[in-house]
Amino acid sequence: MPEPSPRTAPQTTARVFLELRQALADSAFLRRYIYTEESARFLGSTYKYGIHLKVRVQERALIRHLCRSAGAETTNELQTFLARRLIPSLPTEFVTTVDVPSSVPTDQAGDQCRDLAEQSITRELPASLPYAHYFMELTRMAARRDARCVTPARVEEFSAYLGHCHRNTMAKARHRHPELWDKTRGHYVLDSRGTSFAIHFVQQLLRQKLLNQGTRFLDFGSGIGTMIATVHYYSPAHATGIEQHPGLNRLAHCLLRKLSRLKAYSPARVSLKTGNAFQPEVIDLSRYDLCYVYSPLGIDVITADAVLERLRVGAVLISNRRPRRFHDRVEILPEIGGIAAYRKVAP
Ligand SMILES: C[S@@+](CC[C@H](N)C(=O)[O-])C[C@H]1O[C@@H](n2cnc3c(N)ncnc32)[C@H](O)[C@@H]1O
Repeated sequence: MPEPSPRTAPQTTARVFLELRQALADSAFLRRYIYTEESARFLGSTYKYGIHLKVRVQERALIRHLCRSAGAETTNELQTFLARRLIPSLPTEFVTTVDVPSSVPTDQAGDQCRDLAEQSITRELPASLPYAHYFMELTRMAARRDARCVTPARVEEFSAYLGHCHRNTMAKARHRHPELWDKTRGHYVLDSRGTSFAIHFVQQLLRQKLLNQGTRFLDFGSGIGTMIATVHYYSPAHATGIEQHPGLNRLAHCLLRKLSRLKAYSPARVSLKTGNAFQPEVIDLSRYDLCYVYSPLGIDVITADAVLERLRVGAVLISNRRPRRFHDRVEILPEIGGIAAYRKVAP
């Protein structure tokens, strides 16, 4: 095998910038080198727990970690980027609060709280950063030094970006549309299980061969389009969202547009419709192979039966609502992401 030729200083700098780009999407890196000041405490009981992380960059250790045996030129360039661009633009703190149900025995509640808080940091910390900004800037800086080394967004990088866009879009939706707060029930009409769930959900659908090229996936009540975006970017299937709130659908279009800055978007595989999904003239449910319904609302708002009635035989419904009238006309499939799945087997 021929010896690889030694890297020039600009090539090494490009490699380091790309490694930093990737590391900023990794919660373990962020915690070890950037959000290193931590305080944690139980909030009134062992059933509620909060962790507060603050930026305190371990600059020397971070530079050593990324630069390894690189020369002074690379080290200086990284140092300048950290001091001028990264550190001043980082959110100064990250807070997460978790609680466990009162049914958990007292002696286990504390440990469960801590586990949940760790999971929440792993999921949410990279998403709290303006990741697209860093991605673009670090890619541009790497390309300037060695255009050939630039790689497209890796899965973890895209996931951090998706998480960040989802958080921002959710906040925007709730701010712009106060009517989404359901006064009678005391919670948001627009809720979401988040992007970690959506990615895990899509990966499970892929493993179970329910989401293939040509599969027509429907999100019934698609909100700001998080699930549609995840199906689009993590699977080869066709994704349709139907949402009754026009403002949310506008935000869904915007979310897809933003995501396309990191990965190519195929408009032919996405459709966002506005209207009441219960009206057959708005949407023909028999055209879909897989229908996802996530409704945290009262049972009267979206029922599994009302959806199953209009799906074709052979189609699959994934829903936190249980079929009643249709219970003997469905085959129960393994759960997907902890949610029940039913295949319609008779009209
Ligand atoms: C909890 S959100 C779910 C958002 C998205 N599916 C997700 O999982 O991230 C439920 C959405 O369903 C919408 N919705 C409720 N009833 C609907 C209907 N009949 N037709 C269309 N959308 C509906 C609400 O406006 C809301 O945005």
